Amino acid sequence: MAVTPATKLDARRLRADFPVFDELVNGKPVAFLDSAASTQKPRQVLDAMREFYEHSYANVHRGVYTLAERATAGYEGAREKVRAYVNAPSSREVIFTRGATEALNLVAYAWGLDNLGPGDVVVITELEHHSNFVPWQFIAKKTGAEFAHIPIDDLGELQLDALDEIATRGNVKVVANNLVSNTLGTVNPVEKLATWAHEQGAIMVVDAAQAAPHRKIDVQALGCDFLAFSSHKLCGPSGVGALWGRRELLEEMQPFNFGGEMIRSVALDRTSWNELPYKFEAGTPAIAEAYGFGVAIDYVSEIGLDAIEAHEHELVVQAMDALAEIPGLRIFGPPAERRTGIVSFELENVHPHDVAQILDWEGVAVRAGHHCTQPLMTRLGVAATTRASFYLYSLPEEVDRLVAGLLKVRKTFA
Ligand SMILES: Cc1ncc(COP(=O)(O)O)c(C=O)c1O
Repeated sequence: MAVTPATKLDARRLRADFPVFDELVNGKPVAFLDSAASTQKPRQVLDAMREFYEHSYANVHRGVYTLAERATAGYEGAREKVRAYVNAPSSREVIFTRGATEALNLVAYAWGLDNLGPGDVVVITELEHHSNFVPWQFIAKKTGAEFAHIPIDDLGELQLDALDEIATRGNVKVVANNLVSNTLGTVNPVEKLATWAHEQGAIMVVDAAQAAPHRKIDVQALGCDFLAFSSHKLCGPSGVGALWGRRELLEEMQPFNFGGEMIRSVALDRTSWNELPYKFEAGTPAIAEAYGFGVAIDYVSEIGLDAIEAHEHELVVQAMDALAEIPGLRIFGPPAERRTGIVSFELENVHPHDVAQILDWEGVAVRAGHHCTQPLMTRLGVAATTRASFYLYSLPEEVDRLVAGLLKVRKTFA
C-alpha cells in the first residue's frame, strides 16, 4: 500500500453520519460488507438532496426564472466537483450519465461504431466487469473488429507479456480496463497499459467504478482517454455517474442519445449538435442526483482519499489474515499490498449463496455470485464466490463478525 495519510479516519465517528447503521437486521446491528456493490449514504447527502428539492428544484438549462437558475447552478456546480475530483482539464469534458455502465456504453457506441472495423483489435482483460466487457464485445462483433483479452495469472494479476502477441493480431484501437477489479480488488497497471495503448495508436478507456470511491484519481497522471465511474459507490445517490473524456475525442464523436438539450438547431432536413458536454446529455438529466453526487464528492474528499485507502487496507489485511486461518477457505486474488478493500473467497463444499444466507442471519451483509465477471469466474474455475468489501465506515469488529459467521457456516455444513 503506497499511501500514509496525514490523518487517520475515525470510522466509528463517521458511522454517526449514516442513518442505516441504526438499523437492526435479524435483531442485530448490520455489518454492511457489500460496499463494492453500492455504498450507504450519509445524512449530509440525504439532507442536501432534500433541501435541493425543497428550495432549488426546477429543470436545468432551460428557464430564466430564479428556481431554474438555482437548479442549473447546483447541477453545473456538481460537474465542476467531478472535474476537480479526477483532475480533468475542463468541466466541458465531464458528462453526466446514469452510471459507469452507461458511460462505458457511450464510449463503445459513440466512439467504437465510427472508429472500428475489420483488421482492428479491441483489447479488454479477463477480469473486466461485464459493463466494460459486453459493450466492447458487441461493438467489436458489429464492426468486424477482433476482440482480444489480456489474461490473468493465478493471483488475478494481468499478464502484460501477452501484449506483444496481441499487437500482432491487427491494429490495436482500444484498450479497456478497470483500474480496480470489483471481484478481486486487484489494482491494475493502467498507466502502463495507457502508454502501451498510445504506442499502438489506440485509446485507453478506464473503468474507475471501484477505484474512484477509494483512491485518488488523476486522469492526466493516468494518461487515459476516457474514465467512467458511478455516484452510488461513493456515498452518493444511484442513477447518476460520470464520464470524463479527452476533448478532441469527444468533439469528434457523434452523440449517443438523441432528443432535447443535445441539439443546437433542428429543422425538417437536418439537426446540428450542441456543444460539450450537452451534446451527450439528451433529455432531462438526474438533476438532484447529480447535485447529491457533488455533495458526496465533498464528503469523501473532506475525509481524504488517502485516509480511506489506508483504512480499507488495514481492514483487508485483518480480513485476509483471519480468513486464511479458516480450514477449507480459499481466498482469490493478489496479496493485500496489491488490492483494495475487497476479498472474494470460497468455502469448500458450501455454495456462496448459502454462505451469504447464513451470514445474513448473523446480520452480516456480503455479496454472493459471479459479480458480473463471468469470464473471470471461468478462469478461477468457480461459478460464484462470496465477496466482502469495505468502505470508510467499516469497522474491525465487522471483520470479526464475518469470521465468526463463517465458522458457523462451516459447523452448519459439517
Ligand atoms: C468494476 C465495475 N465496473 C462497472 C460497474 C457498473 O457500475 P454501475 O452499475 O454503477 O453502472 C461496476 C458495478 O458493480 C463495477 O464494479
